[in-house]
Amino acid sequence: MSTTIAPLEERSVSCSLDNYLVLPDNTMDARIAAARRELGSRAVVLGHHYQRDEVIRFADFRGDSYKLAQEAARTRAEYIVFCGVHFMAESADVLGRPGQKVILPDLNAGCSMADMAEIGQVESCWEQLVSLGLTDELGRGITPLTYMNSTAAIKAFCGERGGLVCTSSNAPAAFKWAFERNEKILFLPDQHLGRNTAFAMGIPLEECVVWDPFMIGGGVDPARLRRAKVILWKGHCSVHQRFLPEHVDRVRAQYPGIKVIVHPECRWEVCQKADGVGSTEGLIKMIAAAPAGSKFAVGTEIHLVNRMGKEFAKESKMVITLDESGCLCTTMFRISPQHLCWALENLTQGNVVNRIQVPDDVKYWSRVALDRMLEIR
Ligand code: 13P
Ligand code: SF4
Repeated sequence: MSTTIAPLEERSVSCSLDNYLVLPDNTMDARIAAARRELGSRAVVLGHHYQRDEVIRFADFRGDSYKLAQEAARTRAEYIVFCGVHFMAESADVLGRPGQKVILPDLNAGCSMADMAEIGQVESCWEQLVSLGLTDELGRGITPLTYMNSTAAIKAFCGERGGLVCTSSNAPAAFKWAFERNEKILFLPDQHLGRNTAFAMGIPLEECVVWDPFMIGGGVDPARLRRAKVILWKGHCSVHQRFLPEHVDRVRAQYPGIKVIVHPECRWEVCQKADGVGSTEGLIKMIAAAPAGSKFAVGTEIHLVNRMGKEFAKESKMVITLDESGCLCTTMFRISPQHLCWALENLTQGNVVNRIQVPDDVKYWSRVALDRMLEIR
């Protein structure tokens, strides 16, 4: 049955978000679809895998942070509507073409991990590393490497000092690139991704130290800093850090033969016990490549796990969460169908709401750092 949509001027289009937030979810679909049609190729909707079903179904492209950054760099659409979190929208603005506008449907959709590294703290850490003689100002000594989950200012900081950005899907290649330039890396802000990547490259745990921005000298003895190959920022993802080694043992006892696959933002102890580690896109591919009848317990955000559970059931594969309690990314969840509808309908009327704009001085160096990431293999 096809749904007839009233012409836009007859619909209750309003610039005020409050008027949308009171509307039920099921009234949004037809309106979002109509606004999407009306905008045509002028808009592209990008959706991260952690978005809710009611939102991601409207994405022109779904992906992990890396794939969505590639799409943002590729698209010629005038509007890039980013159903994801703030650092992803910022990166899209940095990678986009002049005149393109990036929209984040809810400005409160941040990332608690990205918030754990603030540019002033990073500058102060760097000054201390310079004063210890471990690097010079420009990064001759230490390569600064930041995870995509960080502010554009931190990406620019890394770009300006000979460093780069990575995502969970290309961290090993980024580490290799960084070590080709210096013997040491400063990795921001996720200690777990940094430790997991370093260890997988053969760097022992004793050669990874954790810099705590709230402690003098990062809370690390200067002698240990000198010996370290990787200086990890004390940051983490509160969603992934909740997965514990005992969850792996429990699910294996409950479902003999089950494969445990996890995101590299999980703790080292969890990744060590897992059968596979990968980005959101990587986790989907692992399950897609498995034979019918396979069982998976997945350590990542619950919306993606539930969606894979439904989709892969059609191929007779079982997909469950590694732990049933608390693996919702509350900031990803902030993008609701109402926010998406509000942003798109405003665009149809020429109103650009919730635009994400990175200042030009920050843009230049963060683009350098992001381009280096897009160029590595
Ligand atoms: P991916 O790049 O694997 O999609 O990860 C992004 C993220 O924020 C995971 O928590
Ligand atoms: Fe940030 Fe964690 Fe949410 Fe990913 S899952 S966006 S790292 S808070």
